[in-house]
Amino acid sequence: MSDTTATQSANAPVLGPVNVVTDYAGSDEFVRKHTPFVEVIDAGGKKMVSVRVGKDVPHPNVPDHYITWIELQVGGAPIARFDLSPVATDPSVGIYVNVDPGTTVTAMEHCNLHGLWTYSVTV
Ligand SMILES: [Fe+2]
Repeated sequence: MSDTTATQSANAPVLGPVNVVTDYAGSDEFVRKHTPFVEVIDAGGKKMVSVRVGKDVPHPNVPDHYITWIELQVGGAPIARFDLSPVATDPSVGIYVNVDPGTTVTAMEHCNLHGLWTYSVTV
């Protein structure tokens, strides 16, 4: 997990080290709360990718603590980004993608207090 330094204000965005989640089932509640959990569903010949932050352990969604954005990457390249507000949203997004079987799809999210988190699946 990343830390703020004494020189940063309490409201400064934390874009420090990326927390890479590789063992979701074996992770603790703090990790589960921040994991941008990816699921891929075949939907009429297309692939629907959903990303849910707080799938099993809800993440707070209030102005002092919320998920500011979720980004989707394919093969390491960003393909979509969702900027979120803590007002009237849930940190869950979905998008249809055109990717070949065997492609790695990675979701990255940013928590305003706890930094960057990623989770990947192979389609
Ligand atoms: Fe958080």
